[in-house]
Amino acid sequence: MKSNVMLSPSLLSADFSNLAGAVGTIKENSGSLVHIDVMDGHFVPQVTYGQPVIASVRKCTDLPFDVHLMVEHPESSISSYIDAGADWVTFHIEATCHADRCVQIIHERGKKAGIALCPATPVSAIETLLPFVDLVLVMTVNPGWGGQKLIPYTVEKVRKLADIKRKEGFDYKISVDGGINSSTLPSVIDAGTDIVVSGSSFFKGELKWE
Ligand code: DX5
Ligand code: ZN
Repeated sequence: MKSNVMLSPSLLSADFSNLAGAVGTIKENSGSLVHIDVMDGHFVPQVTYGQPVIASVRKCTDLPFDVHLMVEHPESSISSYIDAGADWVTFHIEATCHADRCVQIIHERGKKAGIALCPATPVSAIETLLPFVDLVLVMTVNPGWGGQKLIPYTVEKVRKLADIKRKEGFDYKISVDGGINSSTLPSVIDAGTDIVVSGSSFFKGELKWE
């Protein structure tokens, strides 16, 4: 069922004192993209980790990194996350009025550009960018914390993005982030998800992937 869907475990639920071990766990348990949540204490209340930590973890694995920037004004820091080792950079449409510039910066550096939507933000907010982005990340919980419950109406946005992609022949991957566990997984896959982010259920060993 999941042969064409990628698992992207989120380091947010890992043991921060052993991130090298965490990326090893990800590789051993079907993870193919490491999801790294950067929080700035403004866009969301918490602060997690930044460029120096990402650069250190970069030395511990050959898996690609998707850096999910929950930061205000991402245009001013995107390049530094690429310097630190990001392969994909995903920024929030709600955090910038320079979304096109963000996509351009990421592509000029030869990396994949992702754009994230908070639960209440409609797909129409990024309509103009859909032909150009490599990834649309649908937040299925409110950004800022692990271990929350999936908000059901967000799954309809996945379905809508999958419809647009099929009708227009666009290339972007669709990712879901938040509240994914063995019970919610079938519904997001059915809606057309390509990449599943999982933090707490993955690191608790509760996500049945195979
Ligand atoms: C929340 C983060 C998520 C988080 C998901 O703001 O973007 O990536 O790690 O955690 P779970 O899977 O526990 O909901
Ligand atoms: Zn995330």
